[in-house]
Amino acid sequence: MSKTIAVVPGSFDPITKGHLDIIKRSCGLFDEVHVSVLNNSKKTGFFSIEERLTLIEEAVKDLPNVKVDYFSGLLVDFCERIGAKQIVRGLRAVSDFEYEMQLTSMNKKLNDDIETLYMMTNNQYSFISSSMVKEVAKYGGDVSSIVSKNVELALKEKFKELEQEE
Ligand code: PNS
Repeated sequence: MSKTIAVVPGSFDPITKGHLDIIKRSCGLFDEVHVSVLNNSKKTGFFSIEERLTLIEEAVKDLPNVKVDYFSGLLVDFCERIGAKQIVRGLRAVSDFEYEMQLTSMNKKLNDDIETLYMMTNNQYSFISSSMVKEVAKYGGDVSSIVSKNVELALKEKFKELEQEE
């Protein structure tokens, strides 16, 4: 039987414990799980693509069936290139639903062979977003319970750099 390959796509700017929860649970369901960062040429992130990839690699280093990579262009084309038949997304709240429904419907229209599966984010992380993490970290709030240690340190470092530039 061929191995099952799934993609957990996202901006991951930066990766949070909510993302990690979805990634870990996906690892138990598929042979290979790709954590794939969208490289959006029109939108510069807070962390560069390279920084985001490094932060993810450190955070998933104990998960043997995870591969970390990035893609440009359409997600379904990337899935096809790497042989992934499933996309996994986390759902935090009803407010996520509309956007996710549009995304899934469009992806299905573009490639009917690829299925999108949704996982409810663990309650403990259902309020977390990368934007909120950045906002809290920016003003010196404690993000240690919602991001891994390496991300917490990287946020501190980045805000310090930005302050020095001002
Ligand atoms: O973490 P995000 O920002 O919610 O992730 C969104 C992502 C990366 C999954 C989505 O924007 C995406 O797949 N972009 C690639 C372009 C694409 O294939 N769009 C789908 C049709 S609109």
